[in-house]
Order: sequence, then C-alpha cells, then structure tokens
Amino acid sequence: MQPIRFGLVGYKFMGKAHSNALARLPMFFDTDRPIERRVLCGRDGAWAAEAAEKFGYAQVETDWRKLVARDDVDAIDITAPSNVHKEVAIAAAQAGKHIFCEKPLALTTDDAREMLDAARKAGVRHQIGFNYRFAPALVLAKKMIDEGKLGRIFHFRGSFLQDWIIDPEFPKVWRLDKSVCGSGSLGDLGAHVIDAARYLVGDIESVTGLTRTFVKERPIVERMTGLSGKAGSDAPRAPVDVDDAAAFIASFENGAVGVFEATRFSQGHKNDMRLEVNGEKGSIRFEFERMNELWYFSAEDEPGLQGWRMIQVSEGIHPYWDKWWPAGHVIGFPETFVHEFYEFAQCIAQERECAPSFEDGVKVSQIMDAAELASSRRAWVDIKEI
Ligand SMILES: NC(=O)c1ccc[n+]([C@@H]2O[C@H](COP(=O)([O-])OP(=O)(O)OC[C@H]3O[C@@H](n4cnc5c(N)ncnc54)[C@H](O)[C@@H]3O)[C@@H](O)[C@H]2O)c1
Repeated sequence: MQPIRFGLVGYKFMGKAHSNALARLPMFFDTDRPIERRVLCGRDGAWAAEAAEKFGYAQVETDWRKLVARDDVDAIDITAPSNVHKEVAIAAAQAGKHIFCEKPLALTTDDAREMLDAARKAGVRHQIGFNYRFAPALVLAKKMIDEGKLGRIFHFRGSFLQDWIIDPEFPKVWRLDKSVCGSGSLGDLGAHVIDAARYLVGDIESVTGLTRTFVKERPIVERMTGLSGKAGSDAPRAPVDVDDAAAFIASFENGAVGVFEATRFSQGHKNDMRLEVNGEKGSIRFEFERMNELWYFSAEDEPGLQGWRMIQVSEGIHPYWDKWWPAGHVIGFPETFVHEFYEFAQCIAQERECAPSFEDGVKVSQIMDAAELASSRRAWVDIKEI
C-alpha cells in the first residue's frame, strides 16, 4: 500500500509534538496506509537538518514553496506560527496535497475562509489541530451527550488558564504580536475551548465579551520558541497589540448558555483547561491536567446515592484505549496528537471528510472575531455578521 508521505513546516513545539505522534502512530494504531516522515522544512538548513535527523525525516527543504511542489510528498503538516498558515495551506491545496494545519487556522476569519475554499476546490483532505478534543475523556463526554445522558443542555462553562507572561519583563514573543498570531490568549487558548464547546454542545449564535491587555509594552525579543523567549538586558520596548485575557458569554443555537475565559495571567495555572456541561439529567466536568478522568453526575441515580463520580477513562472500553496500555496505565498530552493524526491518516486513506476540518477552523475564527468585536463595541455580536 502506498504510504502517506508527510512534509512538515516548522519544527519546534508543535513540529516536535506532531513528529512524535507520527513516529508513535504505527507502533500503536493500524492505519490503512503506512506513514512516512519524508521531508522537514525549516528556514535554516543546518538547524533543519539537525531536527530532521532527530525527528526521523529523510530529507530537508529550506523553502516551503519547494516542499509543497515536491511530487514525493502527499500531506503538508503546518506547524509554523499563524501568519504563515494561509499562504502555505493554499499553495499546498493548489498542489493537490492534503493539509493538516495547527490552530488558529489563520489571522482572520476571511483568511480562514480562503483556506477552506482552496482545500474544497482542490478536493484534498483538511484538518485543524484541535488536539484537546482527542482526549479520550472528551470523546466519551461527547458520546454521553449524543446518547442523551445529560438530556437538554443548559450550560457550557469553559476556561483555559496559564501564567507564563505575567512578568512585564517577559519579552514580546510572536504570541504577543498581532501580525504573527492574530490574537492573544483568545486565539492561543480560547480557540481550544471554543472548539470543545462546539464539539460537545453545538454552534453558537451570538456573543458579548471583554478583552484586556494588562502589560501594554514589552522588551523586543531576541530569541524565542514555543512558550519561551529571551531579550537583551537593555532591549527597547514595543507595544503589545493582542489581548492578555479574554472573557465572553455566548448564546448557543440550541438555547444553552456559554461562559468562556482565556488568559495567560492566572498565577499558578500552567495548562489549566477546564470544561463543564450541565444538562437536565446530569452534568460532566473535565480538567485537562487530569485528562484521564471524566467527572459525571447523574440526576437519575437513586435518591440518597446521588453524587459526582469520577470515571477513570483508561480501560479498553474507552475511546482509543484498546490501542494503548493495560487499564489505568494513563496517557497524556502527546497521545492526543497520536489520536488526531490517526484520524487524519484514516480520512486520507478512506477518502472521507476530516473532523475537525478547516470548516471547524472557520467557525472557531468567527466566534473569536465576534468576541473581539463585541469587546470593542461593548455590545452583543451575531456570529452571522462575521
Ligand atoms: N494544538 C496545540 O496544543 C498547540 C500548542 C502550541 C501551539 N499551537 C499552534 O501551533 C503553531 C506553532 O506554534 P509553536 O508553539 O510550535 O511555535 P514555535 O515558535 O515553537 O515553532 C514555530 C516553528 O515555525 C518556524 N517558522 C516560522 N516562520 C516560518 C516560515 N515562514 N517558514 C517556515 N518555518 C517557519 C519556526 O522556525 C519554528 O520552527 C501556532 O499556530 C500555534 O498557535 C498549537
């Protein structure tokens, strides 16, 4: 069977997470087509060669245009910052390559729509990197909601809290530069919460909210990668043009009420994504830092014995678990990427639509743009307006 030959753009935090997933994938999952890590693309040839060696790619390119034009690559995996996504994805689609792209899909909803249109027109598979929805506990939560275990849904509550940019001397890394990332905590963290909300509860029709920038200027960065950055001792400062915190409320199409919060200014919270869904028959609760657990309350339990129960989502009967370890031998953040690439590879092999696709990326972008607009207008914004 012809392998799916991957070409990777960017090779730091997400580049490593994706490459690790592609390497693990065949060890645990049987894909319909073999996986091949073919070409790694980075702008600096020597560093890219070092990364290719470590991450198991056979060849190197220093220009993504050359990567996209190669006829020995089937899928382009985009892990560069968000300002690079659109150009690479559209070129990849036009060259007939399947595309996996990290979130947020693009700097704006209009750009995201162009990417979706290009992928649809080319008839290629397209998937966006909302890896959190691939935690087995969230797949189980989705199944429980779809089966009606919670009944009519009243509330969704989601927050994603981190604390790594509170120091005003922390430099202006690309995640604080609107021209590179599009938005701040909203796009970096809020995007995952919005995706989880849509996955579990459904589409949103309107929002109102607030975004805030606490530290208005920061030292210009000298070196950066992932969530770290360094500036010289007397580095000049530049204005920060993205939100440090974003909070919004939302009305879902099915009548449920949503409350959302994303910030990188919550001391003590490292990668603290929490979700709760309340329905007429029960509730579920999830914390990413304890991702093997799903909390469930059923109002249908016998009176006097009702209470929150913790389901340890790590047995063969749970989503994806028959592929991993014996019961209770828990998995973590890296495995969410294995699951998402399993789905991507199977969608390519079986020629079916991916989920989450670029369409989901567009819908999440719409909600983020609406939240920003609502904050600047101090008003409710209909998603249809975006
Ligand atoms: N799904 C998740 O959990 C998650 C987590 C972190 C980041 N992300 C997303 O992944 C993307 C990358 O984030 P990261 O943390 O890996 O960033 P990073 O800074 O660690 O790595 C970015 C990589 O892109 C490369 N790059 C930058 N511009 C390029 C260009 N023009 N051509 C080729 N390569 C280029 C850099 O050299 C680097 O290798 C962003 O869109 C981000 O929002 C997703």
